[in-house]
Order: sequence, then C-alpha cells, then structure tokens
Amino acid sequence: MDVAISPSILSADFTNLEAELHRIADADFAHVDVMDNHFVPNLTLGLPVVERIVQVSPVPIDVHLMIEDPDRWAPGYAEAGAASVTFHAEAARAPVRLARELRRLGARAGVALRPATPVEPYLDLLAEVDMVLIMTVEPGFGGQAFIDGTLPKIRRTRAAIAASGLDVWVQVDGGVSTETVERAADAGANVFVAGSAVYGSDDAAARIAELRRLASAAHGH
Ligand code: DX5
Ligand code: ZN
Repeated sequence: MDVAISPSILSADFTNLEAELHRIADADFAHVDVMDNHFVPNLTLGLPVVERIVQVSPVPIDVHLMIEDPDRWAPGYAEAGAASVTFHAEAARAPVRLARELRRLGARAGVALRPATPVEPYLDLLAEVDMVLIMTVEPGFGGQAFIDGTLPKIRRTRAAIAASGLDVWVQVDGGVSTETVERAADAGANVFVAGSAVYGSDDAAARIAELRRLASAAHGH
C-alpha cells in the first residue's frame, strides 16, 4: 500500500454522524476514537454507537481504543465489523493473544504506543499485528500540537519493519496537518489520522486530497 488517510471523527459533529461520515467518503478509512475516561481523561462513545457507524459509513472503520482492559472489550469491535481495531500496548495484558483474536474475527490488528512509550519492547509483536500506531500527541483530545520528538521512534519502527520483511503499516495520530504530514511520512508513516485538519476544513474532500498528495510525495524518501 502507498499511503492512506484516516480522518478522525472526534472533530465531527456527534449529533450528525452519518452526514459527517459522508463528508469524508473520499478517505481510505474513518478513524473512530473510543475513550473510557480511565485510560485517558476523556469519554467519547462505545460499542453500540460503533456498530451503527459501521453500518452507515461509506468507508471502512479504523477503531482506536483508548481504554483499559482492551483484552476484554476489543474483540467486540471486530465482531461489529470494524476493518481495523487498534489497542494500546500500555493497557493490554496479553497483546499476542488479543491480536490473534482480532485477526481471527476478520479485523486488522493494531497496537498503539503513547508518545513516551518506546517501541523496542514491542518489536517481537510485529509478526502478530497489521499496524503500529505511533501517537504523535498525548492521547485524549483533538487539536493538540504534533510532537516532533516522536519522529525518531517512527523511523526506528519503520526500520524494524523493513528489516523484518513484514507488511506492517505505521499510523500516526495527533497534530497531523498539511504542516506536519510530510515530516511523519518522511520518517516512515504510511497511514495518517487527521481530525481537526479535515473536519475543520470547509472542503473536507479537498483537504484529504491535499494530505494524501503531500504524504505520498514525502513517503519512502
Ligand atoms: C487523540 C485521538 C486523535 C484525535 C486527533 O487522542 O486519538 O485521533 O482525533 O485529532 P487532531 O488530528 O485534531 O490532532
Ligand atoms: Zn485516534
């Protein structure tokens, strides 16, 4: 795969989700942030809402679980039909068993790392997952500034994947905009989550196309 754009509906109007999903029909995925007010200090939505989102969305759903005990809750999102389910490494008790369960249920499995969590302890997981999500802000809220200090970790992650010969995607999430997307792509990211940059635009389709163009040009340098 070249690059993919996954707008985050965290910055959408939650009272008009079906219309807001159609605003991003040109995207590769719709990124859905599930927060439980424990793993992060914010609360969004859960399984019953995601089940409906999967049914009405014109694009596949990319679920990002910022929750405690993903071992218990994550499989339900795969059963609901999410194309990709990402859990946090810091929260999972048995990440290999969980990733295998997600794949068995037909979803792509992703593992996410907070900005200060090193990737090295998780490199043995690469064979078990389809995507590594490197958070480029502290998880919990949209609209924060991209943390440049995460770029070396993106590079190390991409290098380890290249060395392994596996086809694992590297997603970045937080502060991704037309200003920052090239830096992340140049470091090796190929899936780009953007909330405020897309939903804050009058023309979401044009913003998605611009992010894709910039990311494509910078990826794989
Ligand atoms: C933050 C969420 C992000 C958020 C990104 O914890 O995981 O997906 O929506 O928002 P922006 O793109 O505005 O930084
Ligand atoms: Zn997210």
